[in-house]
Amino acid sequence: MEQHSWKYFLLLGVLLVSAAAETDPVDAEALQSFQKGLSNGEILQWSGTDPCGAAWKHVQCRGKSVTGIDVAFLGLQGIVSPSLNRLSNLEYLGMQGNALSGSMPSLAGMANLKIAYFDNNDFSSIPGDFFAGLESLEAIYLDNNPLNGTAGWELPVDISHLGALANLSLTNSSVVGSIPAFLGAMPHLKVLNLAYNRLTGGIPPSFVSSNLVQLQANNMQGPVLTGPIDAVGGMGSLVQLWLQVNEIAGTIPPGLGNALALQDLKLNDNRLTGPIPASLAELPLAILSVDNNELIGVLPAFKPATKVLATGNNFCQAVPGLRCSHDVETLLEFIGEFGYPASIVSSWKGDDPCLWTGIVCDSGKRVSVIDLAGSQLVGRLSPALVNLTALTVLRLNGNNISGGIPPVLTSMKSLQQVDLHNNNLSGDLPQFPESVKTNFQGNPLLLQSLPPVTSPPVAPAQPSGSSGGGGAGLIAGPVVGAVSLLAIGLALSFLFYKRSEKRFVRVQGPTMVVHPRDSSSEDIVKIIVPGGAGNNVNSRSLVETASVNSNGTDVQVVEAGNLVISIHVLRNATRNFSEETVLGRGGFGAVYRGQLDDGTNIAVKRMEASSVVSSKGVSEFHAEIAVLSKVRHRHLVALLGYCIDGNEKLLVYEYLPQGALSHHLFEYRRMRLKPLEWKRRLAIALDVARGMEYLHGLAYKSFIHRDLKPSNILLDDDLRAKVADFGLVKLAPEGKYSVETRLAGTFGYLAPEYAVTGRVTTKADVFSFGVVLLELISGRRALDESQPEENMHLVTWYRRITSSSSKESLLRIIDPVLGVGDVTGDVFHSVYTVSELARHCTAREPYQRPDMGHAVSVLSPLVDQWKPADQDGEESAGIDLSLTLPQALKKWQASEEDSSSGAASRRMLDDYDSHDSLPTRPAGFAEAFTAADGR
Ligand SMILES: *[C@@H]1O[C@H](CO)[C@@H](O)[C@H](O)[C@H]1NC(C)=O
Ligand SMILES: *[C@@H]1O[C@H](CO)[C@@H](O)[C@H](O)[C@H]1NC(C)=O
Ligand SMILES: *[C@@H]1O[C@H](CO)[C@@H](O)[C@H](O)[C@H]1NC(C)=O
Ligand SMILES: *[C@@H]1O[C@H](CO)[C@@H](O)[C@H](O)[C@H]1NC(C)=O
Ligand SMILES: *[C@@H]1O[C@H](CO)[C@@H](O)[C@H](O)[C@H]1NC(C)=O
Ligand SMILES: *[C@@H]1O[C@H](CO)[C@@H](O)[C@H](O)[C@H]1NC(C)=O
Repeated sequence: MEQHSWKYFLLLGVLLVSAAAETDPVDAEALQSFQKGLSNGEILQWSGTDPCGAAWKHVQCRGKSVTGIDVAFLGLQGIVSPSLNRLSNLEYLGMQGNALSGSMPSLAGMANLKIAYFDNNDFSSIPGDFFAGLESLEAIYLDNNPLNGTAGWELPVDISHLGALANLSLTNSSVVGSIPAFLGAMPHLKVLNLAYNRLTGGIPPSFVSSNLVQLQANNMQGPVLTGPIDAVGGMGSLVQLWLQVNEIAGTIPPGLGNALALQDLKLNDNRLTGPIPASLAELPLAILSVDNNELIGVLPAFKPATKVLATGNNFCQAVPGLRCSHDVETLLEFIGEFGYPASIVSSWKGDDPCLWTGIVCDSGKRVSVIDLAGSQLVGRLSPALVNLTALTVLRLNGNNISGGIPPVLTSMKSLQQVDLHNNNLSGDLPQFPESVKTNFQGNPLLLQSLPPVTSPPVAPAQPSGSSGGGGAGLIAGPVVGAVSLLAIGLALSFLFYKRSEKRFVRVQGPTMVVHPRDSSSEDIVKIIVPGGAGNNVNSRSLVETASVNSNGTDVQVVEAGNLVISIHVLRNATRNFSEETVLGRGGFGAVYRGQLDDGTNIAVKRMEASSVVSSKGVSEFHAEIAVLSKVRHRHLVALLGYCIDGNEKLLVYEYLPQGALSHHLFEYRRMRLKPLEWKRRLAIALDVARGMEYLHGLAYKSFIHRDLKPSNILLDDDLRAKVADFGLVKLAPEGKYSVETRLAGTFGYLAPEYAVTGRVTTKADVFSFGVVLLELISGRRALDESQPEENMHLVTWYRRITSSSSKESLLRIIDPVLGVGDVTGDVFHSVYTVSELARHCTAREPYQRPDMGHAVSVLSPLVDQWKPADQDGEESAGIDLSLTLPQALKKWQASEEDSSSGAASRRMLDDYDSHDSLPTRPAGFAEAFTAADGR
């Protein structure tokens, strides 16, 4: 640029009338002031009072007016006089490459100034009105000046009025804030250099139609660009685009492939994901640098003249142009419809999808399960899925998927299960074969198509001979035989679900009222469907129906209805709430184990009328329950129903036979349980992380648990974990809310900010999750009162012991029962990874903690590696798909027989939770936090 400036200066000189006239006194005075402000002004060799007449060096005139000053690279020091802008005819100003300091002069009002160089000086501030009224300005250079110091300066809106501006160069000049949208709307702007500043955010959408030839916004310092940068995809005149060394997330905008003049593209050292658009390979690029991102898919074969730098990515093949495997190509197309969400594709590396988050393969290494439920996917469902010919399970519930369901998916031969409930799908619902178990509920815009005329009757005829419900209106019939309430719930919902799908166009959720046992009469099942259609149902036929189609606890039991359970049923099931059936007591009342007539177990939480819900209106209680009952995830304990009877408020949950994690972790000796092996602990941690991730990510209503701890983590027979008791805090009375909220969390698990301020975000749960991880690692309770004072608080103890970050120190806290002897073993490395995750989750500041999605992606590869050996193959589906409902019932019954006979199990029930529901101690809060701090 220096060369250029000299040329311009000489050109001016040739055009100028020779310096005969006496200089305009205002101009002369301005130049004299300029010289005076310098500490070494003698370098200029200016003397006298007539710059034009005496032909001062470095000065050009036209007539009596000074039109050019070029004092570049003279070693000038000192400050620049603020009266410089009195030079009203100045067109060229070059003072770059000196050691000028202090404030830059304001240029306000210099309507003839075309070109100005201030770069490479030590100017420490820039006046607020610097850019005002520079009508003719074409190019300005302020690079490499520490302007406005640490505070920096934002680009003033005055710049947007510089209609002639073509070059704006501000590299390394302490610009802060975001890149202003107006820069994208300046039609003459060709060169915009913003590198090495402290700009944040992305490239504003206005840039999409700008005419920039050169955009440099690389190497932001401190605050960095994070994206989006989609707008650069529309900038067709670009020759050079430098965005390297920021933290830009998202994908490379495909539109860049249309920037036919592009030669120099640097995007390295960002967090870009997704593939390199194939069209980029067609461009006549001289250099393409995308090193150190998270790019996936094919590395395209660029033209031979292109210098390609692309290491440090996750491409499926190292060799340019080599395609990915068939399933990988399909999966990438599928996830591309959701914009390649980083939380998922960061694990989608290489060419083996069997290792990826959310993907399970069959023994032939073909993709058989896609499970991305609750993964915050936004976008459309790709028809490319049809190419995954081994796919059996597609679970994408709890996302924000819109658009239609591609009809081609109904032709997939292996498909057994499609769960798309709670999304935003629209259009016609294509007809999947009967053999495919489907769930499309919670998609209000989806049009359920009418069934083919030949479809079989909904309730199959029964061998028992009792007649199925026959007609219109409400019909009630006796229930034959003992049928579990749970079975009814599952079966009814299934039936309704199927019915609404087949019979009614856009049925809203039915209201369902179940009274399995009335004190006097026989069991009656009543079903009320809005719009008058109704049916009575023989419960045995229900079980049969369900046995064919419904297969587990992850079924959306009731979408928009209620599941009210009569108090008599619950009294009966719990032997009138006898003490012997108490499973535990928590902040919200006692939990009883109930047993229905057929032996099925349920857990009944009896809310303490006085303490918690009394002030809630019944309708509010209903409303909360309605929401809670919709929350379904295989790692959350399902709320099956509820009962309100006078002052009694009861919640009915699924029963988890292996009880609380706390027993297995802290009390296995006393309770004669087998201590959990590391791989079990890992699987449990991942289960909990998935459940919590789902809870936090729920599209329609995100939950914060506030009381995550091992006694609220329950285990199934196969030792898979489910999180219990979420959402209950919402049932607390308003006035007491904040206090109650605080007390709701249990001492030892509370995030600092939560305990101190009561302010709660999902990050408070992340903290508690971190504490649970530490308990899994150490086998010690969050608050262990048997330890000396300074070791009582697990987080504090852990941080102190492992503060040196040496791996050896970790050995001191690992649960001895895990038998991890040295730092070189595989188990140790896995423990170490979890320990680091725990440290991250228990960070003091909420913003320093990751979200649950991160925890899932850290844990899932470990679990893959350490999968419990005897776990059945359906890990990702989480439920035993091979078990029909009657089989499941048998299993429950069997476990019931076991536990009612053994004295050990009896003791287990008596002791349930006796140690974990430590009374919360408001007085201890302050101590806890001094303790948490002291490290
Ligand atoms: C730079 O700082 C000075 C003094 O603090 C302030 O007057 C001026 O407006 C700032 N410049 C800009 C462009 O914000
Ligand atoms: C930025 O400018 C400062 C002077 O203000 C200089 O010392 C530094 O080296 C420059 N940084 C870069 C990356 O050019
Ligand atoms: C504007 O920038 C371009 C590219 O660096 C350069 O070729 C051109 O000479 C500059 N124009 C002025 C007036 O400085
Ligand atoms: C399935 O794969 C084939 C071959 O790779 C491809 O041509 C076709 O477009 C794919 N189908 C869909 C619907 O994407
Ligand atoms: C569902 O999609 C429609 C557009 O198809 C959109 O207007 C609406 O906001 C979406 N609803 C939700 C809950 O995202
Ligand atoms: C779902 O995505 C659409 C964009 O497609 C967005 O407008 C809407 O707000 C999203 N809804 C939710 C609940 O996130």
